[in-house]
Amino acid sequence: MRVLVTAGPTREALDPVRYLTNRSSGKMGYAMAAAFAEAGHRVLLVSGPTVLDVPDGVDFLPIETAEEMFEAVKRHIGRMDAAVFAAAVADYRPAAVSEHKIKKSGETLTLELVKTPDILGSVRGDFGFTGTLVGFAAETQDLATNARIKLQKKGCDLVIANDVSKPGIGFDSDRNEVLLVFPEHTEALPEDEKHHLAPRLVREIERLAAERAGS
Ligand code: CTP
Repeated sequence: MRVLVTAGPTREALDPVRYLTNRSSGKMGYAMAAAFAEAGHRVLLVSGPTVLDVPDGVDFLPIETAEEMFEAVKRHIGRMDAAVFAAAVADYRPAAVSEHKIKKSGETLTLELVKTPDILGSVRGDFGFTGTLVGFAAETQDLATNARIKLQKKGCDLVIANDVSKPGIGFDSDRNEVLLVFPEHTEALPEDEKHHLAPRLVREIERLAAERAGS
């Protein structure tokens, strides 16, 4: 299969030296990209800034902002059989990027933020993608319910959900504990290292892709 994987955080500039971002390390997405490549698939990894090495045998497209990730996905999704959206995309960016470093002045500073494009949410409708579509959901409450809403709203075949309020798993950790939310059922996987979980998730996605091809 040809597989697109998004990973890492995005970085939204405020001025030439400052930006808004989040705690995503990119580890889950990079582990997925590596596991797909090891299973013999052709992988394009579209990634925000991380400190990780690009896995062997993976095509790499680095981006910084949500808008750049949106454009990269739009350009490449058409020739993919499957797409896995593991990136922690900023939902908002500063309304304006100051050309010069913002100087300190008053006691408070109010930032105006504007919405970024929902990349995963554009894939089925706007980009017309008909392949296997997998999203991630990082939640702090009502994990299964919120993940199922995302699955339906964004037209996914699978949402891989994790509870980011649990210490030691998920964001910025080597370990994860995920709930697999499919259209017809839900399956909880035991906590494990991300690089052990990834091949297991790849096998699920291969199965979904085979089902889609057969139907
Ligand atoms: N995602 C994306 N583009 C965005 C925001 C999110 O592609 N602008 C993708 C993520 O990569 C992930 C999924 O959407 O696969 C879920 O992200 P999340 O931020 O949890 O979903 P939202 O729809 O933004 O919902 P909320 O923030 O309200 O929980």
